[in-house]
Amino acid sequence: MPSSLRFIVPLILVLAAIAYALAPLVDQQTLRWFVRDLDIRSALIANTIEEPLQELLTTGKKARIEGFFNRITQDERLYALGYCSSSGGAMVSSRSLPADVRCSVLERWEAPGEHLLPSGKGPLHIAVKPLVSEVAPAGRLVLVHDMSFVVRRSEETKRYVFFLFMGLAAVISLITVVIAQISWRGWMNGVQSLLRGEGLLRNPAAGTQPGLTEFTPIARDLQRLIRELETESRARDEGQITWSADALRAILHGELRGDDVIVVSNREPYIHQRRGDAIEVQRPASGLVTALEPIMRACSGTWIAHGSGSADREVVDKKDCVAVPPEDPSYQIRRVWLTAEEEAGYYYGFANEGMWPLCHIAHVRPTFRSGDWAQYVTVNRKFAKAVVSEAKTDAPIVLVQDYHFALLPKMIREQLPNATVISFWHIPWPNPESFAICPWREEILAGMLGSSILGFHTQFHCNNFVDTVDRFLEARVDRESFTVSLGGKLTAVRRYPISIAWPPEPEMLEKSVADCRADLRLANDLPPDHRLGTGVDRLDYTKGIVERFRAIERLLELKPEWVGRFSFVQIAAPTRSGIDEYQHHEAQVRTLATRINARFARNGSPPIVLKIEHHGPREVYEYFRAADLCFVSSLHDGMNLVAKEFVAARDDERGVLILSEFTGAARELPEALIVNPYDSDQCAVALHLALSMPEAEQRDRMRLMRGLVAEYNVFRWAGRMLLDAAAMRRRIHLTEKSGVLGS
Ligand code: G6P
Repeated sequence: MPSSLRFIVPLILVLAAIAYALAPLVDQQTLRWFVRDLDIRSALIANTIEEPLQELLTTGKKARIEGFFNRITQDERLYALGYCSSSGGAMVSSRSLPADVRCSVLERWEAPGEHLLPSGKGPLHIAVKPLVSEVAPAGRLVLVHDMSFVVRRSEETKRYVFFLFMGLAAVISLITVVIAQISWRGWMNGVQSLLRGEGLLRNPAAGTQPGLTEFTPIARDLQRLIRELETESRARDEGQITWSADALRAILHGELRGDDVIVVSNREPYIHQRRGDAIEVQRPASGLVTALEPIMRACSGTWIAHGSGSADREVVDKKDCVAVPPEDPSYQIRRVWLTAEEEAGYYYGFANEGMWPLCHIAHVRPTFRSGDWAQYVTVNRKFAKAVVSEAKTDAPIVLVQDYHFALLPKMIREQLPNATVISFWHIPWPNPESFAICPWREEILAGMLGSSILGFHTQFHCNNFVDTVDRFLEARVDRESFTVSLGGKLTAVRRYPISIAWPPEPEMLEKSVADCRADLRLANDLPPDHRLGTGVDRLDYTKGIVERFRAIERLLELKPEWVGRFSFVQIAAPTRSGIDEYQHHEAQVRTLATRINARFARNGSPPIVLKIEHHGPREVYEYFRAADLCFVSSLHDGMNLVAKEFVAARDDERGVLILSEFTGAARELPEALIVNPYDSDQCAVALHLALSMPEAEQRDRMRLMRGLVAEYNVFRWAGRMLLDAAAMRRRIHLTEKSGVLGS
């Protein structure tokens, strides 16, 4: 306990110095007391023996007087007795009288009384008592007391005083150390809890440590202050950073000291497909991939994903890894292989027939099967194993993506307790009533709470999640700091609106808007002045493609002037086609397009051009640049990056975005024409407004939206999460350090 010694040693030294300084004072005082006692004693003895002595003096027999004196001095303290006659002559004394005590010496003393004489045997106390009598000769009685006992007692007293002070020092030290330890531990626990955002603020009924409740107001203030400082510095830091791939790289190398970064997602960013003799590399249509790919390029980590391509196994090394992007490798994909049963149960079943409709309000009922759940657990475990084998340290930063891996954070934490797990839920989070449908709701929530940070696109989804936890788990929810504590493990629930890379890669903007317009009109057999709208989605029922087509139909009903003058190109990437609901949806979309085209096609120009096939990012950008409007009509969407991509593609500051109010993007892009996709009349009006919007207004709206996307780009999204992770890691180090000091 070195910190206690630092207190005890000075205390002992101070008390020893006090004892040392006090010793002479104690000596003098006790001497004074003893001399006074001996004076009184001498007077008493003198008075007592005065009468018998006077009788003996009248007899004049020296021997008898000496015998009398010898008898009396048998007393332990009374060392000697003597008598000096006033008529002079030698002293009559007991045998013990020291030779240097003579009548002549006593005469030289200024006043009769008590004197101390040094002696070989120790100090002596000498009292002289005048004897006045009418019958006997006058003279002086000399009483000599042995004072060596005074020295002995003084030594003893000094010893006692010394031990008393040392005892005192020990008791004070002990009490102080005990109190200090108790309060230090209490404070340290408090500070540690505070730093973890718990502890002192616990509800007393929920078990606040006894004796610490009085600190609650201080703790609350302190916690608020820390949060304010953190927010302030984050805002300042964020404001000062120009968010780019380089800035992100700098954060990783500076704030996170080049820590090991691992991304886990179901979908891989590059899929190798066999086409005859050749292997083709495909980029999947996925918002998640769009967002994470530039980050991985910046961070050079490992991306663990399901190897789903037909040629995926052919290109990996012995460890199932392949370096990507193929044209300029900067990070690696670690592929995890799934059996057909695993894919059916985990991906198609639990993730896409259960969790996907559970989280999206698209009025498609979720289907939960226990067999799917078992595969979901197995595959999550498989990925956890892959994370552990890919981790270069015991404290990697693992970015877990989406609803395919709700159980993974907890599994990672069990094997790598020091890992920083940042989970991001790319889709909405439902309210507690909707979530209650899931038969494994508790397991899902507990799995997600293995994360250090859990991110959603909007505050609304964060609130829904925290409400859900509050409803179904025995967890502590702090709505001030937006943290959840389950089994002592803290998860911060935060809003991180995802975005896209900014600026877009130059080659995407290489082809001029005019050329894109001309080429695509030509390619689709449309006249050069034909107005064009576009939608780019996976062929998913949540995207509101049916509602979009109905809105187009309504536009043509309400504003027939657009018939034959306007076409809408819908790019729909096939997705999850093994699922009945998706097959049904595709059929519905095809039928509706055919019906509307049959009704409104003029001069060979169909109002709807439906392209159900995969399109690469370049082709998609060409459509964005060629179009007069882009229509995003999702029935429910976490963010929707198509909206942001359209804005990014329009460096000419033209084009109108029509955006569903049920997307996360609607909160960030209010300059779009915001619509309710279920309201086809309203959407038809928005389409008409877009087609007739003056160029100046298009420019003003587009400029504002481009400004936002530029500022809140995907590097900022990732950077903010990584900065928060770095702050969290620093806080944990600090807590651990304080813990060591406190022990
Ligand atoms: C959504 C999900 C992603 C997923 C993407 C494509 O954006 O949030 O996790 O990657 O859809 O879906 P798919 O099932 O084809 O991977």
